[in-house]
Amino acid sequence: MPITFDEKSRSFKLDAGVSSYVMQILPRGQVAHRYWGAAVSDFDLSALLESNGGESLGLDGENTLDETPDSLLCEYPGGGAGDFRVPAVTALAADGSSAVDLRYVSHQILPGKPALEGLPAVYLNSGDEAETLAITLEDKYCGLRAVLYYTVFAELNVITRHTVLSNAGDASLSLNYAMSACVELPTHDYKMLGLYGAWARERQVEWLPLRRGTQSLQSRRGYSSHQMNPFTALAAPNADEIQGEVYGFNLVYSGSFLIEAEVDQKDTTRVVIGINPYDFAWKLEPGERFTTPEAVLVYSANGYGEMSRTYHKLYTKNLCRGAWRDKRRPILINNWEATYFKFNADRLVKLAEQAAGVGIEMLVMDDGWFGKRDGDSSGLGDWFVNEEKLGCSLAELVERVDDAGLKFGIWFEPEMVNPDSDLFRAHPDWCLSIPNRPKTLGRHQLVLDLSRKEVQDYLVERLCAILESADISYVKWDCNRYLSEAHSAALPADRGREIWHRYMLGFYDVLERITSAFPKVLFESCASGGGRFDPAMLYYMPQTWTSDNTDAIDRLKIQYGTSFAYPIRTIGAHVSATPNHQTGRNTPFMTRGDVALQGTFGYELDLGKLDEGEFDQIEDQIDRYQEYQKLIFGGDLYRLISPFEDSTQAAWMYVSADKKSALVQCVMQHTSGNHVPRRIRLQGLEPQSLYKVEELGVTLHGDSLMNLGFVIPEVWGDHQSVCLTIKRK
Ligand code: DGJ
Repeated sequence: MPITFDEKSRSFKLDAGVSSYVMQILPRGQVAHRYWGAAVSDFDLSALLESNGGESLGLDGENTLDETPDSLLCEYPGGGAGDFRVPAVTALAADGSSAVDLRYVSHQILPGKPALEGLPAVYLNSGDEAETLAITLEDKYCGLRAVLYYTVFAELNVITRHTVLSNAGDASLSLNYAMSACVELPTHDYKMLGLYGAWARERQVEWLPLRRGTQSLQSRRGYSSHQMNPFTALAAPNADEIQGEVYGFNLVYSGSFLIEAEVDQKDTTRVVIGINPYDFAWKLEPGERFTTPEAVLVYSANGYGEMSRTYHKLYTKNLCRGAWRDKRRPILINNWEATYFKFNADRLVKLAEQAAGVGIEMLVMDDGWFGKRDGDSSGLGDWFVNEEKLGCSLAELVERVDDAGLKFGIWFEPEMVNPDSDLFRAHPDWCLSIPNRPKTLGRHQLVLDLSRKEVQDYLVERLCAILESADISYVKWDCNRYLSEAHSAALPADRGREIWHRYMLGFYDVLERITSAFPKVLFESCASGGGRFDPAMLYYMPQTWTSDNTDAIDRLKIQYGTSFAYPIRTIGAHVSATPNHQTGRNTPFMTRGDVALQGTFGYELDLGKLDEGEFDQIEDQIDRYQEYQKLIFGGDLYRLISPFEDSTQAAWMYVSADKKSALVQCVMQHTSGNHVPRRIRLQGLEPQSLYKVEELGVTLHGDSLMNLGFVIPEVWGDHQSVCLTIKRK
């Protein structure tokens, strides 16, 4: 099994796939980090670890160099007791002091994987997929206890970690840092990935070399955010898609997070990942406990491509849940970019009838069907169908869409309230706000206080009532502003800073109740596009609307960045109108379809405004989707040309699990006269098998296609796409 404890050296070795992670209990109880990387055979690695030496600051009689707190490579370092680097945990004691130094108490090796109290997490499909190590540590002076959980996958290079902190003392404690995990790396020779961005420009790829001092990726916005994804990778300087060591870190959490890397005076690197300590505090009365979100750690010896494929495998089978996890998703048309707020039932039925004629399978009614809502300044919170606007009841509309031959989906933005709404007028204290202080509005709206049971219950009751009232097959769950004045009228002052996380716990509770009440409904999450594209949302909803930017060329970068951690089948992608509504760019219709194939595939435009040529191409696009969907959803993704490194083209490919078929997709951004040929080298094929590249009429061995590659066929005009089908002979 993947977890072994060596009594002699008091070391733990976690063998995840073909990687190892080694820790050692030191004589005075510190749990030292020893190694994480390609598989090793030994348990006791201490002889290979040069003592870090340095400032000899230790507890009385504990100043041997290896135990010096400020240079110890430590599994879960506390602040305030001689380690001056970024801590994993800090706690304020009732007497106003703050020092944590956790020492080993006991450990257990558990079969399977325990659930995380109130939080989404990776799960197992069978008990033998993984086992879990739980190490209990305690600071006997302040009474803080920590149980460090490591779930180790047998077949994948994956270790998931979380920590349960509790108060074993007899006076209260207040946590200020409560990170999920700390990982120490013995050098600083890495580059660090940030998936940064903004609204309509999410998950742009940026690699920067680690420098001395601290560097952090974070969100303080109350959700995981457009600006920075809760994901990073540290990679060897020479690493690329196919080679080099890479360490991936992803947090299963949708709220404010921090990933901080600190290169210290000895050039070692500490990475902590977890809830953002900014404005966070959590009071633990004696006997109370706090569970951190889960961090998913992935090791790859073969570049970022392999790291991503490991995340994809894990998230596809061990994070996404429910009836839709493994199923082909319906081809939908969403009315947002077709009508915005201006629609009624007749308009939607017309769209459905046009869509049915070309093979689209579902109509999604977006924002504007409830309360009093013809724009974005009123109605949020009033989850009652506006029959006057629609011209009929919801059940009648759904029936008419059904008669047209389409399933029906609906949009909600449950967490929000407009001041101009009946809900706000009835319950002004139900939103996050600070008494006697102006409320910051975002898109004319406020955030409901989801830490409150009565607010959670209102949302569950309202949404369930709507979903029960008609035959609804799909829900788009939107969320269009960040949290400010994060204060709950229901929390006592000494628990005020718990609101950020209590909001998330309430939110997850609502999601669990609603999604489990409607197991057949396909849920898609959204936050002004991709502002909450994180693993926690994927636990409840197997796909996420990737960006409000539907421009195919911009999407090349957004989807490329998203694929670093998240599987293709989770990426919401639609064909939209041209000129594009976010950029004004004109892109060929087939290119728009080919880029949307790199995701769940659907439409978001007024079919009535397409010219005949475009309309006819929908059927070709849908044929292509039907032909390749299994390969795209079920195959392995290989990124071939990065749009961040090459401004003229992007290319990627999928290879089926049995290596019998593959699809290569390229988008050539700009043409030029006497065009310089660009060669691509394929990946993931069997070197010794013969493959036919259908469109080139070439049959060659996998090794030739991968080592020499071929020139991308020339195209005529900007933004053209090329699809190449590859079949094993
Ligand atoms: C933001 C979403 O990302 C859009 O797709 C759309 O649903 C609007 N909200 C509706 O207000």
